[in-house]
Amino acid sequence: MEKKTFYITTPIYYPSGNPHIGHSYCTVASDAIARYKRMQGYDVMFLTGTDEHGLKIEQKAEAEGITPKQYVDRISKVFQNLWKLLNISNDRFIRTTDDYHVKAVQKIFRQLHDQGDIYKGKYEGWYCTPCESFWTENQLKDGKCPDCGREVKWAEEEAYFFKLSKYADRLLQYYQDHPKFIQPESRKNEMIAFINQGLQDLCVSRTSFTWGIPVDFDPKHVVYVWLDALTNYITALGYGSDDDSAYRKYWPADVHFVGKEIVRFHTIIWPAMLMALDLPLPKQVYGHGWLLFGDGTKMSKSKGNVVDPYILCERYGVDAIRYFLLREIPFGSDGVFTNEALISRINADLANDLGNLLSRTTAMVQKYFDGKIPAQRESSDPDGELEKMGNELRAKCNQNIDGYQFSKALEEIWRFIARTNKYIDETTPWALGKEESKKDRLACVMAHLCESLRIVSILIKPFMPETAPKIQEQLGISGDQCSYESAAKFGEFPSDVTVQKGDTLFPRIDVDKEIEELNKLIPNPAAQQKPKIEGLAQITIDDFQKVELRAAKIVNCEHIKRAKKLLKLTLDDGEKGRTVCSGIAPWYQPEDLIGKTIVLVANLKPAKLCGVESQGMLLAADAGDEVKVVFLDGVPAGSRIR
Ligand code: MSP
Repeated sequence: MEKKTFYITTPIYYPSGNPHIGHSYCTVASDAIARYKRMQGYDVMFLTGTDEHGLKIEQKAEAEGITPKQYVDRISKVFQNLWKLLNISNDRFIRTTDDYHVKAVQKIFRQLHDQGDIYKGKYEGWYCTPCESFWTENQLKDGKCPDCGREVKWAEEEAYFFKLSKYADRLLQYYQDHPKFIQPESRKNEMIAFINQGLQDLCVSRTSFTWGIPVDFDPKHVVYVWLDALTNYITALGYGSDDDSAYRKYWPADVHFVGKEIVRFHTIIWPAMLMALDLPLPKQVYGHGWLLFGDGTKMSKSKGNVVDPYILCERYGVDAIRYFLLREIPFGSDGVFTNEALISRINADLANDLGNLLSRTTAMVQKYFDGKIPAQRESSDPDGELEKMGNELRAKCNQNIDGYQFSKALEEIWRFIARTNKYIDETTPWALGKEESKKDRLACVMAHLCESLRIVSILIKPFMPETAPKIQEQLGISGDQCSYESAAKFGEFPSDVTVQKGDTLFPRIDVDKEIEELNKLIPNPAAQQKPKIEGLAQITIDDFQKVELRAAKIVNCEHIKRAKKLLKLTLDDGEKGRTVCSGIAPWYQPEDLIGKTIVLVANLKPAKLCGVESQGMLLAADAGDEVKVVFLDGVPAGSRIR
């Protein structure tokens, strides 16, 4: 018989900056489900990826003086490496710059256009020239651009539109007929209210930037991000390509996990597009909450206040971080990330409850029975209670996993761990060990402890894939003894395996010392910490002196016609003068710069940028989403800076 399939996806992440713990959250949750379902025997397809087009990426790349493709290649790799580190078991990784995706999107766009679901119209709004962004009246801040604060002007741009409005009634009907489509329930009500306000047609192409998938029959347009992004869920399976077997096998998705702010795109725009394409709709969209800091602020790349998952994994191990994310925050709700909560969970749940249970148990089995628990066992109270709880545990986990309630599933497992720890206190094995006549009872107690740990090790594996095998190794079990099937029954722990004490699973952390150190590394608004700055390798003073920094005065500045982000600066560098191109047009007007003195990297090898030879580079700071040029005051042109 063919296995039942299960298709789960994460959003595809914008590689506009390095991933943080907020991105890891959804990916870890999806991974736990993918692993759980595989363990249950499903044929799982687990997809994640990066959403690589759009103006923001184009600007970021230009500010760095590299092509958008070079930029996304680098950051997409950082995402992929992080997923490796976090033991993410995705089956596929899609990049929206992948050739097969580009082709399929073009095909979908053409089909929707040909059948009349996409039409050409005019995009109107308040336009900010330096940011190249349209804003609605409501989005403006004091009548100015909400991003850069400059004047905006009313503008129009030719664009293609998707007839979203046409699908309003069908969407509402679909929600009614499929009550589980949008989860949690509260998000569904928000979506219904949104549709009832009236749906506007959706702009699906732009002409004001070029970093996107060209509309093949009208190439001055690029596909505007959501049509490009959402279709990843089917193009990754080969939809629109020569081999769509995976599409036929796995679509429709069982669940799309997405953050709450993009539920709207996934439950209104995406289903409407699928309706237009006459394709089945995903079975469920689950909108999870955000990871917040203790003061209620959201972690975000643009604010730069992000928690770096690398630092956490390095200090505490991947499984501790996975456990914390899934245990601490009820999926669906927002949750607070604090260094204190993280350490307290590691100490209480992992080092104490689970770690101690394992180390005490293995030490006792070694001490009393040389690692092999005799088959002769005498049962007594409270064995029955522990057995009953063990027998019910898998079903309880399954029930919570079916509703994507990770924290509850883990809570159930830890309740069982607590019960097992209590069982040690009740049965007092150290007293039994003193009397030869109690040997059979002691064997039974040890077997119960090991059997509890065996079941725990199986059920925690999808959440903590590195820890589970470590426990199993110390228990000496393998094969069927570690199977999902065998976790349904609290049985007789085998007498022919050798239990061995191994390394401590989770060393206890000295809270005060660690918090102090962690606050230096990880932003903690409550502790007024600054975000960590990603550094480079150390260099010597000789290395640094190879860079010739010089004060230079901007004597002229103008836009470069073919490059919207570049400004051409004519500089007085104290010698014969020179020209430098810089990707700062989104943040500066030429007239604001003339007369200012900047820091010039004077011995940089010249490079041609859009036909203009750039003879150096100016220094500027990344200030969140902005770039700020370093200006000097009262320094004559040509002065050396060291
Ligand atoms: N590219 C789009 C998604 C397209 S899906 C077809 C996008 N990318 S994103 O990088 O901005 O966000 C990706 C996901 O990360 C979102 O689901 C978002 O909610 C999630 N998170 C980003 N910061 C987060 C937290 N601080 N906490 C939890 N999730 C967060 O949107």
